[in-house]
Amino acid sequence: MRRKHLVVVVVTIFLCWNIMMYYLLVSKNPGKSILVEEKLTWLEADIKHELRENTALLEQLRKLREDAERQARRKTEAPIGRQAQPEIEAPNQKIEAPIRMNQQPVDANFVILPILMIACDRVSVSRSLDQLLKYRTSPERFPIIVSQDCGHQTTSDVIQKYVVSDNIIHIKQPDLSNIELPWPKKKFSGYYKIARHYKWALNQIFHHFNYSAVIIVEDDLDVSPDFFEYFAATYPVLTSDPSLWCVSAWNDNGKGGMVSDDAELLYRSDFFPGLGWMMERKLWLEIGPKWPVTFWDDWMRHQDQRKDRVCIRPEICRTSTFGKKGVSKGLFYEKHLKYIKLNDQFVEFTKKDLSYLKKENYDPWFKRLVYDTPEVTVAEVMSGSKKHLKALRVTYTTKEQYKSLAKRLGIMDDFKAGVPRVAYRGVNSFIYSGQRIYLAPTADWSQYDLTWT
Ligand code: UD1
Ligand code: MN
Repeated sequence: MRRKHLVVVVVTIFLCWNIMMYYLLVSKNPGKSILVEEKLTWLEADIKHELRENTALLEQLRKLREDAERQARRKTEAPIGRQAQPEIEAPNQKIEAPIRMNQQPVDANFVILPILMIACDRVSVSRSLDQLLKYRTSPERFPIIVSQDCGHQTTSDVIQKYVVSDNIIHIKQPDLSNIELPWPKKKFSGYYKIARHYKWALNQIFHHFNYSAVIIVEDDLDVSPDFFEYFAATYPVLTSDPSLWCVSAWNDNGKGGMVSDDAELLYRSDFFPGLGWMMERKLWLEIGPKWPVTFWDDWMRHQDQRKDRVCIRPEICRTSTFGKKGVSKGLFYEKHLKYIKLNDQFVEFTKKDLSYLKKENYDPWFKRLVYDTPEVTVAEVMSGSKKHLKALRVTYTTKEQYKSLAKRLGIMDDFKAGVPRVAYRGVNSFIYSGQRIYLAPTADWSQYDLTWT
């Protein structure tokens, strides 16, 4: 009887132990084990990325050494009176990732800049793709990856044709489930799907393909002839200035008549413009894990993400949108977007020195430019009585004043997280009736008021 009792107790303890262990390790928190798995996958991708960078670095070092040796040999061997043989050009160096030694970017001009095209159910994605292919200078340097959401077969067929003819990559967002939302939010479900798609697609770019940067476009964008040139030239600036977090092709006030003809002109902008924009891998590693479920672009503009970082943007847009019917209804398109001027010139940005865009060079220069400009009233701007002056400055001090002045001068009048659309250091630069105008706070401005929304 006693022995039987003991056996029962032992068996019970054994069973309890097993059940406890099962719950502890497996069933209690299945989400956790998935999370760990996901993290391991990412870690693996990161290690692969580092390996690839190091391999590329070794390759570059090997080539440099070979070059140096060849030159040294030629110096000692070249017989007097005979011309040295022309050097055989090294085959195009295709270095896949930024070369880093102690985290110092060595040559940002070799970095592969993939184009991520976000697509859904627009067969007119071909219009965007045709332009990208027309203006692309190098398929190796600018691979095109179309990420498709929405499971739309006809659009998929269109994209597939480019896979065959132009070697583009077509990937598909796998989660096509409905996003359940309570009634008042139901109308925003499109924005939830877009955010879900962006997150998946950007994870593919950085954790599957392991690229160092990305240029994101949408399937309703036209691009300018120097689209690739613009991003290629600004990439080294982006990597070398920690106060920059993006380069955008977009100027929200870029309507015809509101921009000058100076296609070379670039700015810094505190306002995240989106609509054809480039970011580095390190930014995705920072914001990807906390990516929002909806309204991703406004979320980026929030100070929690932006952290005072800024984008480069052009005077004249390098993209424009033909997406009349989209997730946000066409009203904004009819009122504003369709008037945006797309640049049609080719600026050789890569041959120019763009270091003036770095904070330490730009800020003192920009402040002088704006505050050395004579201050006038909005009435004086509108009447044309100061037309003889090259540029004019109009001052605002309150949110209401800004809104009213912006409306009268025809620029966008909204704020996101305290930042007036397009502004840098509170200043908006645009053309009014052929004249340069700076709508600016007082010269002692030091920071945005986050309550201005
Ligand atoms: C607007 C913005 C867009 C931003 C979006 C989310 C403008 C002109 N456009 O979208 O840059 O990303 O808000 O805040 O300001 N798409 C999907 N899945 C869907 C539906 C759409 O992936 O279920 C894709 C589309 O293919 C497109 C992008 O999301 O590439 C934006 O969709 P669109 O319909 O063009 O909406 P907008 O109103 O332009
Ligand atoms: Mn759109």
